[in-house]
Amino acid sequence: MSVTQGFVVAARAGELAPGRMKRVDIGGRRILLANVGGHYYAVDDTCTHEDASLSTGFLKDELVKCPLHGSRFNVRTGEALEEPAEAALRTYPLRLEGERILIDLSEAGTP
Ligand code: FES
Repeated sequence: MSVTQGFVVAARAGELAPGRMKRVDIGGRRILLANVGGHYYAVDDTCTHEDASLSTGFLKDELVKCPLHGSRFNVRTGEALEEPAEAALRTYPLRLEGERILIDLSEAGTP
């Protein structure tokens, strides 16, 4: 893992085609990376309802659907859109440097 100005390299853009998502484990956190039409987003991978990995769910446009009970979250804002989950996902600042996807764990948005 390498660090650039507080940002940590999470993946390479080539690993994440449009419409796909991927879980990465960094700094003791499980992070979901999503590629929505060429825009990349990073949120917590664990559903805020129970301990389900959202990366094993379904991504449609900006919305990821939990594989366990079907709550949907917006990967851009973290917002929970359907019960049973009510709390938002933590979001992480993300930027691209060439092929590298970097996220800032220290600047995570509070749900
Ligand atoms: S664990 Fe995700 S909706 Fe229940």
